[in-house]
Amino acid sequence: MSNIRVLYRGDCLNILNNYIEPESVDLIYLDPPFNSKEQYNLPFRSQEKTHEPVAAFVDKWVWKEFADEHGDSDNTQLERLRKHPRLSGLASIIDLARESDTPSASMAAYVLNMAYRLDAARRVLKETGSIFLHCDPTANYYLRFVMDIVFGRANYRNEIIWHYTGGGRSKTYFSRKHDTILYYSKSNKWTFNADEIRIPYKETSGYAKGGITSSTGKRYMPHPDGTPVDDVWDIPIINPLSKERLGYPTQKPLKLLERVIKASSKEGDLILDPFCGCGTAAHAAENLFRNWIGTDISRFAVSLIRHRLANNFSNLADVGIKTFGLPEYIVDARKLAKEDPFEFQKWVCGRIGVNQLGQRIGARGPDGGIDGVIELDIIGEYNHKTGKATIERVTGIVQVKGGNVSADSVRALENVVRRSGSIFGIMVCFEDQMRTVNNQRSKDTWSDVSGVYPFIQGFSTEDLLARKKPALPPLYGLHSRGRLT
Ligand SMILES: C[S@@+](CC[C@H](N)C(=O)[O-])C[C@H]1O[C@@H](n2cnc3c(N)ncnc32)[C@H](O)[C@@H]1O
Repeated sequence: MSNIRVLYRGDCLNILNNYIEPESVDLIYLDPPFNSKEQYNLPFRSQEKTHEPVAAFVDKWVWKEFADEHGDSDNTQLERLRKHPRLSGLASIIDLARESDTPSASMAAYVLNMAYRLDAARRVLKETGSIFLHCDPTANYYLRFVMDIVFGRANYRNEIIWHYTGGGRSKTYFSRKHDTILYYSKSNKWTFNADEIRIPYKETSGYAKGGITSSTGKRYMPHPDGTPVDDVWDIPIINPLSKERLGYPTQKPLKLLERVIKASSKEGDLILDPFCGCGTAAHAAENLFRNWIGTDISRFAVSLIRHRLANNFSNLADVGIKTFGLPEYIVDARKLAKEDPFEFQKWVCGRIGVNQLGQRIGARGPDGGIDGVIELDIIGEYNHKTGKATIERVTGIVQVKGGNVSADSVRALENVVRRSGSIFGIMVCFEDQMRTVNNQRSKDTWSDVSGVYPFIQGFSTEDLLARKKPALPPLYGLHSRGRLT
């Protein structure tokens, strides 16, 4: 059984260097941003296209900004790298990247960032450990070089091609339908469980039916669990209606992570994902009885993971996951609300389990009042002929207030719920503001077979921290964006 379940909110460089024991981790999977120059937004409902998107994270790197962020002149980091005992070989690659990509030199900034983080990852990996670095074609050729230098070419094990279908097709070049996963071990001793990840033979396989006899007369029989996996993996991306889908951009399929984890670790091992997004690696580790640590720079991501895991594993619903870097007490929540209202709202939305973040958080205007959207399947009438009940997808609007709640803001929430065709609204605020919400809110209700629910309800940040849930039907949070059938 897993008993290390830890989430850190912050830059993984700091966490790897300062919070995780050296040589303590058995397996690292990391899926960092790729330098795709994209802003990965959380999707917004089609009716609300006019809203500005909300960034889950931004994948743009600029040499100058990177240097400024680190309080250095453009070249200080690079000069430091030139003198680094093991990483100095990378400086020439970064020089090359800078030349090929002026003036922003974004690839160079990206490679330099990743080099320090991969080196920090190596430090926490056990001598027998393995690392899987997930890359898309934007930067994989640079990252392979970085991995060769950080982990040593002798420790290169595979370049795995994750091939998928679906999505758009290009008419001007071959459609890009794969990511690359670079697999290295830390030393020449590593775990590889080939038999754990066998896949069933194709139905048409003659070998599967009766085995094969070689020219020397030796007989080879099929393995009962199927064929060993090679380095090209056909695993579907999560389809838009899948129950697994959370709406977090770049979410990877559980099946992919389960294969990585089964292949390279055993029950009770410690798995680390330093760029854990919405927590696919943690979810897979939990399914497979491994311990796990996840880190992500985004408050929304980390609070969403807590929600995801608590809803999938009843034993984690209460205090099962240790979390650092997110508010745990009301004073921390108030501090965050005061210092960074934007981040406060994202944290609340992640924790309450919205499926989509709303318009630019904090924006005012006629459509103000949508910070997040909860999607919910509700159970309707039972049909005696088909023997099935109808299931309907509905939405609710979440509005977050870190300060005073006015009568106007409660009315604005009600208006936006009605206008958007949603069936409920939740105003999240501090306990001392709940009176205004309760006095001003519409007393309309709605119902499904499970009960009667308020059209507009207040929900306090105090209750959120106490892991209580708003008044919603029992299916709330039990699935994500996937449609129940
Ligand atoms: C490609 S996504 C990971 C998706 C993840 N594999 C999943 O299945 O949900 C990359 C993540 O890295 C996070 N990130 C970006 N820079 C980071 C940093 N310096 N430290 C930790 N996390 C970071 C982003 O917030 C984002 O959630």
